[in-house]
Amino acid sequence: MKLEGVAAFLTGGASGLGAASARVLAESGASVALLDRNMTLAESLAKELGGVAIECDVADHDSLSRAVAQACEAIGPPRIAVNFAGIDVSRKIASRSQGPHPIESMQREIDINVIGTLDGCALFAERMLDLEPFEDGERGVLINIASGAAFNGPPGQSVYAASKRAVAGATLPMARDLAPYGIRVMTIAPGFFRTPLAETVDKKHTDKLISMVPFPKRWGDPREIGELVKHICLNRMLNGETIQIDGAMR
Ligand SMILES: NC(=O)c1ccc[n+]([C@@H]2O[C@H](COP(=O)([O-])OP(=O)(O)OC[C@H]3O[C@@H](n4cnc5c(N)ncnc54)[C@H](O)[C@@H]3O)[C@@H](O)[C@H]2O)c1
Repeated sequence: MKLEGVAAFLTGGASGLGAASARVLAESGASVALLDRNMTLAESLAKELGGVAIECDVADHDSLSRAVAQACEAIGPPRIAVNFAGIDVSRKIASRSQGPHPIESMQREIDINVIGTLDGCALFAERMLDLEPFEDGERGVLINIASGAAFNGPPGQSVYAASKRAVAGATLPMARDLAPYGIRVMTIAPGFFRTPLAETVDKKHTDKLISMVPFPKRWGDPREIGELVKHICLNRMLNGETIQIDGAMR
């Protein structure tokens, strides 16, 4: 998928990995729509990038559906859509000190990370189905965000890991569903990248985990995710796969 002059929608595009990717895509000539619940951040980044900020809660179908319609109206239908919106409620499934993981936060995490991503794919793909095809008949690219935790989750991340494994699991069947329309589907599973979300995880825990990264032994830079998003867009042979980007931290 070319980047110059196409519309790219990013849920969770206001902060962290989504914001860094929006920057890379905008620098490469795409028009960006940032679909996020944090309008303060989204509006200031959209202004900087010449894009649009649209308020939404990805876990609420009506809200996401409205946001997709508004984004299409503002910058045209998406050729690229990336589902970054996600949360990580670090908590053991049960412990003597805290009891069981509360069902409300379990449900919310699944609603945002799983349903928000699947519903995003459904609504974005719908807008791509009848677009004019480009080279090889390509119409669009969907990129979802899982996590290394999907395959190798640390303590306290059972719900998060389950949600991210679900996203990784949907990648191949979704690519198969959408292949007849020339729409590719890829998933990125990041290791540790320094973002506001990563800062919420216990520092003692993350310091120890970073020291175990084989190479390079450091936090990932959110821009490195943006560069991977760009590469996935450009390279049409990438389809139906989850890429771990983590310095070999398995
Ligand atoms: N940072 C990491 O190391 C890391 C590692 C693996 C996976 N991830 C995943 O990458 C994605 C982005 O994480 P990040 O580190 O950039 O986090 P972040 O908190 O910096 O950004 C997340 C963005 O999503 C938005 N968001 C959250 N819930 C939303 C909702 N219901 N509706 C709309 N917007 C919502 C937030 O407002 C925020 O702008 C997440 O899915 C996360 O699970 C991050």
